[in-house]
Amino acid sequence: MTVTGAGRHSMEKTQKQIILTGDRPTGRLHLGHYVGSLKRRVELQNSGQFDEINILIADDQALTDNADNPGKIRDNIINVVLDYLSVGIDPEKTTICVQSALPALHALTFYYMNLVTTARVSRNPTVKSEIQLRGFADEGLPVGFFVYPISQAADITAFNATVVPVGEDQLPMIEQTREIVEKFNKVYGETLVLPKAMIPENETQRRLPGVDGKAKMSKSLGNCIYLSDDPKTVKKQVNGKMFTDPTHLRIEDPGHIEGNVVFTYLDALCTDGHFAEYLPAYANLEEMKDHYRRGGLGDGVCKKFLIQVLEETLAPIRAERAKWAADIDTVYDILKEGTRKARETTDATLARVQEAMRIDYFADRRIIGEWEELLRKI
Ligand code: TRP
Repeated sequence: MTVTGAGRHSMEKTQKQIILTGDRPTGRLHLGHYVGSLKRRVELQNSGQFDEINILIADDQALTDNADNPGKIRDNIINVVLDYLSVGIDPEKTTICVQSALPALHALTFYYMNLVTTARVSRNPTVKSEIQLRGFADEGLPVGFFVYPISQAADITAFNATVVPVGEDQLPMIEQTREIVEKFNKVYGETLVLPKAMIPENETQRRLPGVDGKAKMSKSLGNCIYLSDDPKTVKKQVNGKMFTDPTHLRIEDPGHIEGNVVFTYLDALCTDGHFAEYLPAYANLEEMKDHYRRGGLGDGVCKKFLIQVLEETLAPIRAERAKWAADIDTVYDILKEGTRKARETTDATLARVQEAMRIDYFADRRIIGEWEELLRKI
């Protein structure tokens, strides 16, 4: 795990270690999410090294580019929660909550917007590329979408997060958050916690390509393997869409590993145990790769093995998902309870912020005396 950002915060040593991470609920989660973030969240959850772990279902953020389709977001909240629970996120250890039910996040966003210039947001590389990707450059840019980095700073600071596990593409968001924290603390006094990003260590975790070899799994490209896909669909994706090495025409030909999607997936998922069980001719992936490079190892064998590895990974997740899906009442209560807890935390941060800004007019009656004093002087 790589933690970026200097540890300059004075409270840091005695500080509780708090994680916040989140997802936009715009679709079911796929193998790319699993390899890049879900697996690690479960490891962090079970490491015992954190005082608090929170996962935010960022439905408000999802609306910033889906304003015309709130039904899609509403539907996918349940998909995302089921995906979390099925990979091993344990509601006893991790708080799962819904962004739109946390009004403190909206209020914080409103205050933080005054601490950031439009020029600064425009320079945010993630915002820049997302504006291109979504065609907002031509169509016109919704203000809400433009300021989502500021709302993400509100998310992170509201939970007093010290560590934010995210994909590399989110680093500019954490950087922007750190700037907001520093600015806030400078203007209003030491109030907010300075967070650090935690990004995946290796290349395979960072970005699992789509089954078609395109850089990213994406619903619109149809190149995903979803955690909830059935075995037939998984097999179809691998056999139908995954290419290997176009120069590896005959089995005896030497093959290439680089850019070979089957091996990229094996890199991300397979263990020595998988070899012992399904392909005992090799002790590990290195031996298999060596044989492929030398020639004599067919693509069919490689794909068959990958399908077995995928099944071994996905079958328990699928089973767990089916169990939770049969008890949506309980899932609803988990989400409701997580959101209730998160509301306490985020409301407390908002109160602290308003106190620091001295806009906590109704927290007590102290201001009556101040106003009386002021009026006497007029
Ligand atoms: N922007 C993040 C993504 O698209 C989702 C997100 C929203 C998030 N709020 C967050 C991530 C707070 C970490 C912390 O993946």
